[in-house]
Amino acid sequence: MPHKINSVAVLGSGTMGAGIAALAADKNCKVLLLDINEDTVNKARMNIVNEKKPLLSLPSNIKNIEIGTFEKDFHKIVNYEWICEAVVEKLEIKREIFTKIENFRSKSSFVSSNTSGIPLKEITKGMPENLLKDVCITHFFNPVKVMKLCELIPGEKTSKEVLETFSNFLANTLGKGVVYGKDTVNFIGNRIGCYFMLKGLHEGKDARKKNLSIEKIDALLSKPLGLPPTGLYGLIDLIGLDVMYSVGKNLEINLPKNDLGRPYVSLPDAELWLYNNGQLGRKSGGGFYRVQKSSNGEKIKEVYDLENREWVLSKKESMDSSSFDIMLDDTIEGNYVWNVMGSSLLYAADLVPEIADDIVNIDNAMKWGFAWQKGPFQIIDALDPKKVIEKCNRLGIKLPKMLEVINNSSNNRFYSTNEEFLNLSGDYEKISA
Ligand SMILES: NC(=O)c1ccc[n+]([C@@H]2O[C@H](COP(=O)([O-])OP(=O)(O)OC[C@H]3O[C@@H](n4cnc5c(N)ncnc54)[C@H](O)[C@@H]3O)[C@@H](O)[C@H]2O)c1
Repeated sequence: MPHKINSVAVLGSGTMGAGIAALAADKNCKVLLLDINEDTVNKARMNIVNEKKPLLSLPSNIKNIEIGTFEKDFHKIVNYEWICEAVVEKLEIKREIFTKIENFRSKSSFVSSNTSGIPLKEITKGMPENLLKDVCITHFFNPVKVMKLCELIPGEKTSKEVLETFSNFLANTLGKGVVYGKDTVNFIGNRIGCYFMLKGLHEGKDARKKNLSIEKIDALLSKPLGLPPTGLYGLIDLIGLDVMYSVGKNLEINLPKNDLGRPYVSLPDAELWLYNNGQLGRKSGGGFYRVQKSSNGEKIKEVYDLENREWVLSKKESMDSSSFDIMLDDTIEGNYVWNVMGSSLLYAADLVPEIADDIVNIDNAMKWGFAWQKGPFQIIDALDPKKVIEKCNRLGIKLPKMLEVINNSSNNRFYSTNEEFLNLSGDYEKISA
């Protein structure tokens, strides 16, 4: 029987911790928010109330949040049912916090980490059995209030009751779309999303030689594919090249040996140069793009010329077509989109059951966490799986697992018209509500 969660201690009051605390407070949970010092946690409290886009829907709900520091107030977590770790993405720091959690929490509490990509088994290695059965990953997306996705990832020993409690609470109290993943590096959304971004950067070098500008690439990797208007470079400006650099390092350590993403884990030379020079994206005043003010106050958008290392005026590029079919065109544009998006679809199709038991969890993760209009398998259906298989055969690409499944099945779509999805055996199964 799942339990009801009414209180949460959030450890770490940065972007994600503050977001999770605010969401829970908004849903009338009692919240404790802790961080390394009073300044940091006071600032987080002010942000929750004062943000231009407020984190609370009802400002008076701030009364539900008590703040404190790790040093003075850690013992208070004993009074909270859910202990949510949201400190910096550093394995050793997370392990330190987890050891402390186990010393202070109530034995009937539920514990989770909001890590974006470190496997739970790494965080909890060698920790007591008591903790292992009560812990899992609850991976929220930024901004917590807006993004529908929360990935729920059990560890090897997480009890069924703990999983059911989280699943119930995340969906019914916090209003999230819950996706069930496996304890593998970067889980679902970031595993595929980071492949897409890193592959896009690597293919970008060759594409620029063929005169595809950064603006053109962003236009190609947005509207025609039902992806957000930031495309590739705009999205990385938002995330930050420093985050992409660390993501790559984590992938290098934790990706399986023969993973198709391995060749792309390091930033390409041009992007590495930007990273080393602190040109990280919006947070550093510019990355691939920047906005300047002219002497008469007019806003001017510039793009960085990666070959000549200089800022130039950005040219607006847009695409009329909004059809996935561009991926099958044998043109410079079509080939680039195939090499990035097509390759990401094939990557996703090879990750069942490694990262999720079925295609539905993968599609939902990309729609709810990365704002794709369709998930990878829905896109392949829109293209027609037969055409994708033909293209792979023509290019000598080994069919990824789920395309192999559909190739050997009498069914020719990943989703039937009957609210069913294709499972690993090639049969249709009802999509659970
Ligand atoms: N920002 C995102 O888009 C995003 C999305 C999903 C998950 N995450 C994950 O959520 C977690 C928090 O990320 P964030 O974006 O909120 O980071 P952040 O940098 O905004 O906040 C991290 C917090 O950790 C605290 N901290 C720093 N050093 C510490 C230490 N030695 N001991 C304890 N606490 C320390 C900081 O004071 C800070 O408040 C990370 O694991 C991150 O990977 C981030």
